[in-house]
Amino acid sequence: MRTQVGIVGAGPAGLLLSHLLHREGIESVVLEMRSRAYIEKRVRAGVLEHGTVETLRAAGVGERLSREGLIHQGIELRFGGRRHRIAFEELVPGRAITVYGQQEVVKDLVAARLASGGDIRFEVDDVALTAIDSERPSVKFRAAGERESIECDFIAGCDGFHGVSRDAIPAGARTHFEREYPFAWLGILARVAPSADELIYAYGDRGFALHSMRSPEVSRFYLQVGADAQLESWPDDRIWAELRARLETVPGFSLAAGPILEKNITAMRSFVVEPMQFGRLYLAGDAAHIVPPTGAKGLNLAVADVRVLTRALADWYARGDASGLAQYSATCLRRVWRAQHFSYWMTTLLHPFDSDDAYARRLQLSQLEYVVSSRAAATSLAENYVGWEP
Ligand code: FAD
Ligand code: PHB
Repeated sequence: MRTQVGIVGAGPAGLLLSHLLHREGIESVVLEMRSRAYIEKRVRAGVLEHGTVETLRAAGVGERLSREGLIHQGIELRFGGRRHRIAFEELVPGRAITVYGQQEVVKDLVAARLASGGDIRFEVDDVALTAIDSERPSVKFRAAGERESIECDFIAGCDGFHGVSRDAIPAGARTHFEREYPFAWLGILARVAPSADELIYAYGDRGFALHSMRSPEVSRFYLQVGADAQLESWPDDRIWAELRARLETVPGFSLAAGPILEKNITAMRSFVVEPMQFGRLYLAGDAAHIVPPTGAKGLNLAVADVRVLTRALADWYARGDASGLAQYSATCLRRVWRAQHFSYWMTTLLHPFDSDDAYARRLQLSQLEYVVSSRAAATSLAENYVGWEP
């Protein structure tokens, strides 16, 4: 079998790439190891940058997003017994974020692909990339017990941080940049109305907490926990007690609790591979880079990569112009490294580290005070949060 672009992974990156390529008249096949039900239920990101929303709308998959997405004009930083609003409408006028679950984006994209006859193979295994440094790379895999192979012009590795695509690049042809943080995030989804209108990023001696949401009926929360924390040690009562202790720190705020629908623990890590391409293989999204979720950047970076890759492939197919493809990695990495720094900065600003001494805590508080009292510092946070365009 043959296709133009073989895409490994049906996360936001792979699905959006397949959809955008289809709109350019370029065919693709998407190979996904999980089932459709699994990827449509996987709870992850929730914050879409302005540019991400525009991309989804322009691609014709923004209808439900426009109806159900919650537009936010600011976020709150809570520390020292006070609340401080970072007001996007004042600091970065015309730019906002939209809160809309990643799994909703995934559902919208799967529906759009299948409605236009797109080829997504779910539950494949043993995916392997071959001949990526030739003009006829191929993807081999097993589906329903049968070995299959698809010959392609190009392969897009969109299979996330734990995928196989990145390792198809010879070790000597790539460099990894990495940082691990000595804590994790315990995330829950709860059937309860949000206790605030905007996201709350709360810093305190007990650790970081985040109050987010998905809809007027469903809230999302995160707690900083130890890097080795286990869900068994976090029964529902303990989670609510800790959320209250970290969030009910300002006068007049009380946190509403409700049934917990989902719980998970996410490691906190920063990672970049350079370059993001080798031969006819192009990596996009978490396959090439991950950020700790404090800056809400991962999904948005995946969408940005896919925008660049679509343009480059469209130029190649339309006019034989290979310049976009040659520049793919360099173009993406400018935005990636800005988001890396912002995510690292938000993470180190808002999480007390066990290794901190009293001096380090004072520095954190001083930086927080500066961010909420200097218009220049608040604008820097705001312009990165809503999405900085290099
Ligand atoms: P993925 O979503 O990981 O998709 C990769 C796909 O490839 C998966 O479906 C996987 O099953 C499949 N796959 C893997 N290996 C193989 C294989 N060998 N063969 C076939 N298929 C394979 N980002 C934000 O922008 N904003 C946020 O608010 C935010 N919050 C987050 C909160 C949490 C708790 C977490 C965990 C992440 C958050 N992120 C956030 C990050 C965001 O979820 C990711 O950056 C995003 O999922 C990246 O999309 P992707 O398509 O590159 O990778
Ligand atoms: C979320 O709603 O899942 C979310 C929001 C903000 C973040 C990370 C995750 O920084």
